[in-house]
Amino acid sequence: MRRAKFKAAAVAFIASATLASATLASAPAQAEIASGAVLANTCFSCHGTDGKSAGDMPTIAGKSEDFITRKLKAFKSGELEATIMNRIAKGFTDEEIAALAKFFSRR
Ligand code: HEC
Repeated sequence: MRRAKFKAAAVAFIASATLASATLASAPAQAEIASGAVLANTCFSCHGTDGKSAGDMPTIAGKSEDFITRKLKAFKSGELEATIMNRIAKGFTDEEIAALAKFFSRR
């Protein structure tokens, strides 16, 4: 009886592990379609909703795509010194930076 219970638990565990790895496997596909709008959520806390800052942070909404791309790449490479943006920019690929620049330039 105990054995059967263990077996059932083991089967359930394996089933959920398989499900989890199937979910993980589809993660790259999701990352590919992550739009600038989704990525931009992480920027709102500092730069204001839609990049329109109400405080001391620079407003990034409406700046040109080229400006935002250049800034983020320079932060990422360390060419441009910053308090926080170096660390943030390092978390994004060039494609994601392009998507972010497109998003904020159109706000
Ligand atoms: C923790 C707060 C914080 C977050 C989150 C943040 N930023 Fe910044 N950002 C700053 C600060 C502060 C500066 C000024 C440069 C510095 O000191 O890092 C800045 C500067 C910038 C600039 C240059 C603006 C200018 O006029 O020179 C751009 C572009 C920018 N951020 C884009 C982004 C994007 C895109 C995101 C989201 C991926 C983001 N930031 C997330 C704090 C933040």
